Amino acid sequence: MKKKAVYPGTFDPLTFGHLDIIKRGSKLFDTVTILLAKNRQKNTLFTLEERIEQIKMILEEEKLTGRVNVDCFQGLLVDYCKQKDINIILRGLRPMADFDYEFEMAMTNRGLNSSIETVFITTDQNFFYLRSSLIKDIAVMGGDISSMVPSSIEDSIKSKLANR
Ligand code: COA
Repeated sequence: MKKKAVYPGTFDPLTFGHLDIIKRGSKLFDTVTILLAKNRQKNTLFTLEERIEQIKMILEEEKLTGRVNVDCFQGLLVDYCKQKDINIILRGLRPMADFDYEFEMAMTNRGLNSSIETVFITTDQNFFYLRSSLIKDIAVMGGDISSMVPSSIEDSIKSKLANR
């Protein structure tokens, strides 16, 4: 049986931290689906379509297409997994800040569907401080974000923020 994982998130935008989890996850599982799922607390800078295009471009640049794909879903993550016959949720875990939130999410998803397991990969030490909102804050103040996001989306972040 194929080991299929879903890597859900907002990805507004995708960071090097996310990419590291995707690359390492793609070595553990036969397929990884990056899923743009809705976090109801978040208003995004990029539209769903823009984020999908950005991720597709990055997957091509990184030669990850095939094993890794991108999709979007409105609704419960466990329902998406059931529809697509996926039983692994992949999440990155950064020190301290993530634990309670991730534990709660994993427990909730497990409560909703106990045949789906959440698997955590610890974030690489080079990226554990990264988060999308921090990157947007740095970019809006003219800071250098080249070590935080793939170069192909750096300009679109800057121009989107400048035109807001
Ligand atoms: N490296 C760097 N940054 C990372 C990271 C990593 N490895 N992993 C996460 N982050 C950052 C993200 O950039 C993001 O930063 P931000 O808050 O500044 O935007 C933050 O950590 C967490 O974001 P993300 O991992 O994208 O998760 P989320 O909290 O935005 O989204 C969903 C959570 C979408 C997975 C969740 O809401 C969901 O499953 N929604 C579907 C509905 C559902 O089923 N709800 C019940 C589930 S409990």
